[in-house]
Amino acid sequence: MTVMQAFGDWMKTVQANMEDALASYLPEATHVPARLHDAMRYAALDGGKRVRPLLVFAAGELFDADDSALGRAAAAVEMIHAYSLIHDDMPCMDDDALRRGKPTVHVEYDEATALLAGDALQSQAFIVLTEGESDAARKLEMIRLLAQAAGSAGMCGGQAIDLASVGMTLSLAELEQMHRLKTGALLRASVLLGALCGKALTESETAALDAYANAIGLAFQVVDDVLDATADSATLGKTAGKDAADNKPTYVSIMGLEQSRILAEELRNDAHRALMPFGNKARRLRELADLIVQRKT
Ligand code: IPE
Ligand code: IPE
Ligand code: MG
Ligand code: MG
Ligand code: MG
Repeated sequence: MTVMQAFGDWMKTVQANMEDALASYLPEATHVPARLHDAMRYAALDGGKRVRPLLVFAAGELFDADDSALGRAAAAVEMIHAYSLIHDDMPCMDDDALRRGKPTVHVEYDEATALLAGDALQSQAFIVLTEGESDAARKLEMIRLLAQAAGSAGMCGGQAIDLASVGMTLSLAELEQMHRLKTGALLRASVLLGALCGKALTESETAALDAYANAIGLAFQVVDDVLDATADSATLGKTAGKDAADNKPTYVSIMGLEQSRILAEELRNDAHRALMPFGNKARRLRELADLIVQRKT
């Protein structure tokens, strides 16, 4: 019997592998145009919790996926995430100066470089997905999945709703829709991409993973809203209290802290329940649901 790695050790291993994979899949900082490449690496390397890559690897483990395929899928989704953060922080969006404990890209470089670094990270993500050994049909499915999650039916759509909602009181259903798009979509894609690295999924496997991903996807942004209202900037590595300062509708502003925490717990239970058909093989995904709800940063 093989001894299972403790969750913390597994997480560190994936995070270290991710750092190496991203460093190798991103253009060298010395390549022309060096300032753009430097900004891309500044945004993507050396920071962040790497929750999306962890989800890719955890879902891949469920279907015995190959590590190099998982590394590519995880790097791709993390590049999309890094791009979304660069743009989210720009003056035309949340106008934030701090990200991952460092000055945001438009502050460290300039706005045009930030815009382009985000654009180029997005392109690089899809380049990475075209590489590797897996068959063309599988790659196409993965490219389409990530594109849908990143686009107007996913992250970008959610960001548009977020910006249009400043100062408004959303209904719970509207708020949920916004959170599912702006954050949930990319987390869902992470789970499905990881699984697809292992095999073509059956309908029931897709349904179970979808239920899991939907629960953790929403839980992640509920907790993000709670942390924005309760943690400090040094702990978060980004400006705390920004949602209230900007008059953004959040779970905290609409249902209050206590109810938001209760909702996050319920979503964690939903996530665990969704994994039951997979038994102990889904252990990492279960542990990640716990991490997403219990995290302090
Ligand atoms: C922050 O995401 C933005 C949201 C989608 C809420 P993370 O909390 O995953 O940020 P990093 O990657 O750890 O910096
Ligand atoms: C942003 O949500 C989600 C993205 C698509 C980047 P937030 O605006 O709440 O993220 P933070 O709090 O700045 O990380
Ligand atoms: Mg935002
Ligand atoms: Mg923001
Ligand atoms: Mg936030």
